[in-house]
Amino acid sequence: MAEPLLSVKDLRTYFTTEEGVVRAVEGVSFDMAVGERRGVVGESGSGKSVTAMSIMRLIEPPAGEIVTGTIDFQGENLLALPEDEMQEVRGGKIAMIFQDPMTSLNPVYTVGDQLIETIMLHQNVNKHDAREIAGKALDDVQIPSPSRVLDDYPHQFSGGMRQRVMIAMGLSCNPDLLIADEPTTALDVTTQAQIMDLMLKLAEDRGTAVMLITHDLGVVAGFCDTVQVMYAGAIVEQGTAKDLFGDPQHPYTWGLLGSMTRLDESHTERLHSVRGAPPSLINPPSGCRFNPRCDFAQEQCRSRYPALRESGNEAQFAACHFATELDLKSMSVRGEVSNR
Ligand SMILES: Nc1ncnc2c1ncn2[C@@H]1O[C@H](COP(=O)(O)OP(=O)(O)OP(=O)(O)O)[C@@H](O)[C@H]1O
Ligand SMILES: [Mg+2]
Repeated sequence: MAEPLLSVKDLRTYFTTEEGVVRAVEGVSFDMAVGERRGVVGESGSGKSVTAMSIMRLIEPPAGEIVTGTIDFQGENLLALPEDEMQEVRGGKIAMIFQDPMTSLNPVYTVGDQLIETIMLHQNVNKHDAREIAGKALDDVQIPSPSRVLDDYPHQFSGGMRQRVMIAMGLSCNPDLLIADEPTTALDVTTQAQIMDLMLKLAEDRGTAVMLITHDLGVVAGFCDTVQVMYAGAIVEQGTAKDLFGDPQHPYTWGLLGSMTRLDESHTERLHSVRGAPPSLINPPSGCRFNPRCDFAQEQCRSRYPALRESGNEAQFAACHFATELDLKSMSVRGEVSNR
């Protein structure tokens, strides 16, 4: 098998707070292939952004710390790189698009200056050529009159335009991996769909791998090759999008899929969902962290942590002691109907 583009192993990222140590990412391992489009889903607070920020090495000390793990990118452990080399990776080989472009664009510089600076930092070109590349990058994201717009300031743009600029900036150096953390959440639904389509199309044309963090399972189903479902700092299920959506193995995944509003059906009520709230990451429940909310939980779920193991289909992994024994669609375990 070809070497993965990205290989994260046993990543643990903690934050020290007054209340205690928040174990935001607790033993996350996954691989991404060249050009792979991977969806990352899970409820708020499950560790999606902290995983992404750890890959970018943007966890802020002293409160935040990657306490253990390796993040191999193109065969090199990013966690061992000196900061100046990491700066070259950031924005160069790996680009990240954040939810709120106002926090990533500097209000006192023109959009052109910011694009040109990024391009000059990562490509060996002079200012004149960088400006040309910047204009082309804006054109790629369908911003009209790009050469004029280069001299505008971020506040002169609409939210959708700013997000297009961020995508242009992210892709301007032809990264091998684009991490998009809820890139369109701040926009209206129509603009969201347009921008998501555009971003994904551009990435596809260039063969850029994409790690897409989103609450929109429809986008993941339509665009991603693979999916990882996160719960309380860990991956509870991963597999191809087809297997995971068609044949979920973890009760949490099943609940998450059930809470999707089905516009394609004649009714829009929720068929099933996940009851309760996510646990504290300071004092998580023992055993399986999902056990207090699980309709199938048994004694060993409260005492033993379930490792991710292959279940269901080939290359589909679930962290559930009973994954292979549950029939989620009929809510039963080995013929018994759950008491839900
Ligand atoms: N700087 C920080 N200090 C303390 N705790 C933090 C910090 N950043 C994140 N956390 C905690 O880490 C956990 C994971 O947060 P994270 O932002 O990764 O969630 P998420 O899955 O991205 O959620 P959302 O869908 O809401 O964006 C949360 O409990 C969060 O409160
Ligand atoms: Mg987040």
